[in-house]
Amino acid sequence: MCAERYAEDSLRSHCNQIDMLSHVPVMADEVVDFFTGGLNEGLLVDGTAGAGGHLEMLSRAMPGMSFLAVDRDPAAVSILRSRFSDNPDVIVRQGSYTEVPDIIKELGLRNASAALFDLGLSSIQLDDPLRGFSYRHEGPLDMRFDDSTGTTAAELLNKMTEKKIADIIYNYGEEGRSRRIAKAIVRNRPVNTTLELAEIIDGSIRRNSFKILSRVFQALRIAVNEELDQLDRLIDDLDSWTKVGARIAFITFHSIEDRKIKLLFRDTPSYRQHSPRWVVPGEDEIRKNSRARSARLRMGIRI
Ligand SMILES: C[S@@+](CC[C@H](N)C(=O)[O-])C[C@H]1O[C@@H](n2cnc3c(N)ncnc32)[C@H](O)[C@@H]1O
Repeated sequence: MCAERYAEDSLRSHCNQIDMLSHVPVMADEVVDFFTGGLNEGLLVDGTAGAGGHLEMLSRAMPGMSFLAVDRDPAAVSILRSRFSDNPDVIVRQGSYTEVPDIIKELGLRNASAALFDLGLSSIQLDDPLRGFSYRHEGPLDMRFDDSTGTTAAELLNKMTEKKIADIIYNYGEEGRSRRIAKAIVRNRPVNTTLELAEIIDGSIRRNSFKILSRVFQALRIAVNEELDQLDRLIDDLDSWTKVGARIAFITFHSIEDRKIKLLFRDTPSYRQHSPRWVVPGEDEIRKNSRARSARLRMGIRI
C-alpha cells in the first residue's frame, strides 16, 4: 500500500491523498436511500467521517443540507479537509463523536436532522503499517485512532495482568483460546510490534490462523480506543442533539455494538426502529469489498 512505499513522514500526507479513495463506503446505496427518503434540509452529522466516502455521496444527493464531519483521527481529518475544501456546506472537526454536542454549540448550529455512525476503522487506517492495526504489516503496536493521546496497544499489553488480557480477547474478540493466548503474551513480554504479537499468537495456538489473529487485533483495538464506552456515551446523549424526526443510522462490525444499537432503537422511548430492522451487504458488495462482510446497518427515527 501507499504508506509502505512512502514511509517517511514528509510524504505521508501526500500518500494519504493518493489513498483516500482506497476506503470503499459500506452499504452506501442503502445509507443514501435512508437519508434521502425523508429529508431535504437541516444538519447531517457524520460522526465517523473517515475518508469521507459516505459523506461525498450524501452531500451530492442532498444539496439542501449542511454537513458536520467529525473523526477522532487527525490523519482522517486532514483527508476530509482536503476532500471537502471546495464544499462550503461541509464543516470538518477533529474529535470524538461524543463531543458532537459541544461542537454543535461552539459552531452555533441547530440540532441535527440526521446522523450517521460507521463504526470501527477505515481501510486507510488498517493498511498503514505505522498505525499498528494490522497483523499483516510490521509496525509499532499502537492502534490509537488519535495518536496524540491515550495508551498504545503495546503499553496495554506490557502492563496488564494476564487475566485482563484474556478477558479483553474473550469479550471483545469473542475468541475462545483467550487464556492460552494471554499466557503466551505475558511470557514473551515486552511485545512492541505487530508481527511480534502475531508470532506469539500463532505460536500459542501452534498454527497460523488469520481468523484468530484478526479477532485478537480487533479486541485490542476496541480496548485501546475504549470503543464500547465511547458508544455508550454517544447513545446516552444522542437525543440531546438530534431533532424529533431525525434519521439516525449505525453501521456496526461487532455483535456487542450491534446489540447496543438494536436495544437503542427497539427499547428506548426516544426512538423507533426504521424498517427493515437491519440490513446486511449483498453478496455482490461482499465480493467487491471483503471488509463489508461483517457489517450490519440499523436505522432509527428520533421521536
Ligand atoms: C469505518 S471508518 C468510516 C468510513 C467513512 N464512513 C467513509 O465512508 O469513508 C470509521 C472511522 O471512525 C473513526 N472513529 C472511531 N471511533 C470514533 C469516535 N469515537 N469518534 C469519532 N470518530 C471515530 C475512525 O477514526 C475511522 O476513521
